[in-house]
Amino acid sequence: KKYLYFEEIDSTNIQAKRENYEDGAVIFAESQTAGKGRKNRKWISHKGLGLYFTIVLKPEIEVNYLSHFSLLFNYSVFKVLRNYVNGKIKIKWPNDIYLNGKKIAGFLIESSIENNSISKLIVGVGINVNQSIKDFEEDIKEVATSLKIEEGKTFSRKEIFLDILQQIEKDYLKFIKENYLDIKKIEENLLWLNQDVMILEDGKPILSGKLIGLNEDGSLMLRTDEDLRFVYVGDLSIRN
Ligand code: BTN
Repeated sequence: KKYLYFEEIDSTNIQAKRENYEDGAVIFAESQTAGKGRKNRKWISHKGLGLYFTIVLKPEIEVNYLSHFSLLFNYSVFKVLRNYVNGKIKIKWPNDIYLNGKKIAGFLIESSIENNSISKLIVGVGINVNQSIKDFEEDIKEVATSLKIEEGKTFSRKEIFLDILQQIEKDYLKFIKENYLDIKKIEENLLWLNQDVMILEDGKPILSGKLIGLNEDGSLMLRTDEDLRFVYVGDLSIRN
């Protein structure tokens, strides 16, 4: 397998797209100068404090499965991180992990489709590990945290990283071979399950209801005043 290590790089996702890496290649950076989040946000990537890496995969399976991949990788990382923490860890559908109500990890997954088949997945993972409160910018202090802030100790990034690679490889191969993804287990660990939530699009609420679960196809199930809705895209938010 190909492992690429960068002391500093613009973004491991950008690097993944610059070259044609083989299936399974892992690109790791100590720091990123232009770390990317979803929605054109930036992902502040302090040297040596967080984990910033991208995995290149070439699944060659039907495009219908695309929505499952976010949940698959999210659940793999979730399973590893929960072994390291005492705090309340949850999966925020579909692309984040929360610890004690604040974000500790995010996924930026970019895909290429050819003839109805997923030819390439660029799976970018950012995890806040050893940051202190002062390392976060003012505007995200309220919503972001790190393992260290919540658990009150420093973690081995290397140990967590190796655990994650192992877990992702295992879960990914099982999914490719057997189409196996335990939606029920993911559902049990969903943030805001059975609570009143909203779905936002471009920051505006487009749907409100009670989050009642996760459907087999990876969509969220919301019970609104009128009926049951399946949500495939949008930002999940708590209703208060
Ligand atoms: C998000 O929560 O908006 C997604 C954050 C993804 C950040 C990771 S860090 C490694 C990889 N390279 C990037 O530029 N972004 C992802």
